[in-house]
Amino acid sequence: SKKQLLTAKLRNKTDRVNWEEEQMKKSVIKADADEIKVKDSDNYEFVFDPESMIDFTDDTTDILEPVEDGRLAEALEEQINKMKSIKETRKSLPVYQYRQEILDSIRQHQILIVVGETGSGKTTQLPQFLVEDGYTNDGKCVVCTQPRRVAATSIASRVADEMDVILGKEVGYNIRFDDRTTPDKTILKYTTDGMLLREFLNDPQLSSYSAIMIDEAHERTLSTDILLGLLRGILQDRKDLRLIISSATMNATKFSKFFFDCPIFNVPGRRFPVDIHYTLQPEGNYINAAITTIFQIHTTQKLPGDILVFLTGQEEIESMQTKLLEILSKLDNTKFPDLLVVPIYANLPQEQQSKIFEPTPKNCRKVVLATNIAETSLTIDGIKFVVDPGFVKEQSYSGGVSKLVTVPCSRASVDQRAGRAGRLGPGKCFRLFTKWSYYNELEKVPKPEILRTKLNQVVLLLLSLGINDLLHFPMLDKPKTIQLSEALENLYAIGALNSRGAITKVGQVMCDFPCDPEYAKVIYSSVFEESCNGVLPEIVTIVSMLQESNSIFVPGLNSEEKTKLFGSLMQSSDHMLYLWIYEQWEENGYSRRWCQDFKLQHKTMKRVLRIRQQLWKYCRKQDFLLKHDQNLTQLKENMPRSVIEAKIIKCFISGFPTNIAKLSKQGYTNIKQDLSVSVHPSSVIFNRMKQEGKPMKYILYQSLMLTSKEFIRDCITFDKYEWLTETMPHIYK
Ligand code: CDP
Ligand code: MG
Repeated sequence: SKKQLLTAKLRNKTDRVNWEEEQMKKSVIKADADEIKVKDSDNYEFVFDPESMIDFTDDTTDILEPVEDGRLAEALEEQINKMKSIKETRKSLPVYQYRQEILDSIRQHQILIVVGETGSGKTTQLPQFLVEDGYTNDGKCVVCTQPRRVAATSIASRVADEMDVILGKEVGYNIRFDDRTTPDKTILKYTTDGMLLREFLNDPQLSSYSAIMIDEAHERTLSTDILLGLLRGILQDRKDLRLIISSATMNATKFSKFFFDCPIFNVPGRRFPVDIHYTLQPEGNYINAAITTIFQIHTTQKLPGDILVFLTGQEEIESMQTKLLEILSKLDNTKFPDLLVVPIYANLPQEQQSKIFEPTPKNCRKVVLATNIAETSLTIDGIKFVVDPGFVKEQSYSGGVSKLVTVPCSRASVDQRAGRAGRLGPGKCFRLFTKWSYYNELEKVPKPEILRTKLNQVVLLLLSLGINDLLHFPMLDKPKTIQLSEALENLYAIGALNSRGAITKVGQVMCDFPCDPEYAKVIYSSVFEESCNGVLPEIVTIVSMLQESNSIFVPGLNSEEKTKLFGSLMQSSDHMLYLWIYEQWEENGYSRRWCQDFKLQHKTMKRVLRIRQQLWKYCRKQDFLLKHDQNLTQLKENMPRSVIEAKIIKCFISGFPTNIAKLSKQGYTNIKQDLSVSVHPSSVIFNRMKQEGKPMKYILYQSLMLTSKEFIRDCITFDKYEWLTETMPHIYK
């Protein structure tokens, strides 16, 4: 009809102009390209054309306000581009202008809270200021904590560059299983909050430090919260110690109240406005919606302008990476610029981390697939578009079962994420949920980890530090009394505490070992429990493999291929397969070729080797090896594999007595709670269940993750209920 024709014409007209002139103002992406259809391997058809794209809201009432005058930001950004050397880039960061004021405040006040927009230079600069101001002159050290490993390592490496020193000497990092510091030489150290917490065990006054920066405090991880409580206690005795708490712009007054109304230093940030778009309809599959959005952006928006996508975890990132590459290979690549896909998540090998910081090549667009690590911990320059499905993976704990669940983010988090689009210039954020949902369904702020996790480990640590009055231990948010008593009960049940509530020898081992206490218990049992001793080397190997189990095989390896490679081992269990893999690799001289032949990631295996060496060192230190040798002489070596396997299972029962699913009419359910679980397709057990007629009665699993189902992973099976009563009488008798 006439009317339709008119709108069609109008649209064509606007389509042509919006590109050059009004690119940033125009909010809805309209493709100028022809329709593109691409099918992925799951037969899902992605259609990128003006008619069938995802509809986003096109009003611009939702704008993340610029933090500072945009023009000023622009001028500063230009300045950065002009200044080539790394030293000059430092000077352009917002915190630099406040260097002296911040240092004066720290001299004056023992505790200072620093709040500033992400990317303003808190993490990389503040610790350097302290070093320059003489805090490390008397042989003491400055330390800065991070909730995540990747942040600690990549920032340490950046700062080492800025200070022009070798990483691991003056500037280093310390994360679990990877200590890159030099005693007597390292003056500035980046570490995870969990690792600093462990240092209280050896040195309750943290006497080697002159200044401690607790970074990303707004994340409220369990370790950060406990650290803050402990530090609050030692500051009175250590008047020389300085504490800096830094946070993105959330909840700073809460920290100040907790620390005797200490001052808050606000670093004015810079950020351009960010237009926020919501989907008009809720999106069923946010992965596919995200992919469609990425291509909507890619096919219609000018370069430069990189895209940042927030996903929930490594697996999701890897699968999306595969899909994107697949679609790219089918696209007519003469029509569009190149698309460079780079992932970033907590366990990403260090060699690959630097990739995300490398400048995007000319005529190319970078897509960064990130977990919420890119929300505030890491700043990637060049991002102009944020695609945010609005989910995050969180630890949750209820009724004695802990699991990872994917939950909607809080409003504070999604606003932080949107802000990442406004560093280079005005940006756009595409939220794959509705505006209604933002205002009515999302929580205001994230729930602190301490209120939603198992407290066993923390309670054990506090007890071993002599803090017995847990109810009055200072905490930003107090866990419920029932959470604490549950933790005490659990610790008693696994033998870490005796009936008087005092720490036992096992409890001490669980504290001292550089791995989760549950794994420490498994290792302990392999030496000291009569029913399962004699398997220490095997256990240490399996425990080491389990630390890295999600990146042992090359990505995308399916179970048919695995069966071809590993044959009858695919009829055993994940634990036994891991043991076999490690032992064979060792026998083959830790060879790279061997890994390639078996589709294993050599880099991961090398990490496993390092982890194993460290655990072994602890075993030696604790005289486990001596006792193990005695066990072997008594046991008359050369146990058959079936005996070894039985012992291995019992060791794991002793560490993970409630991570057990039992066979019932409805399939497998958790033994403690009526929760039905499914074996994850990546598990050997899944493969076995397809083949075997008679399923096993019990499955012990290492992790439980709720995605489309409650999936259990890293599984080993057994048949005898007696093994439970025999190994864990407090729980099962
Ligand atoms: O901690 P905050 O978010 O305030 O900022 P930062 O992490 O200290 O980052 C300051 C600047 O250093 C940003 O422009 C980052 O892009 C840059 N940076 C980098 O280029 N490479 C790294 N590995 C870390 C930071
Ligand atoms: Mg930071």
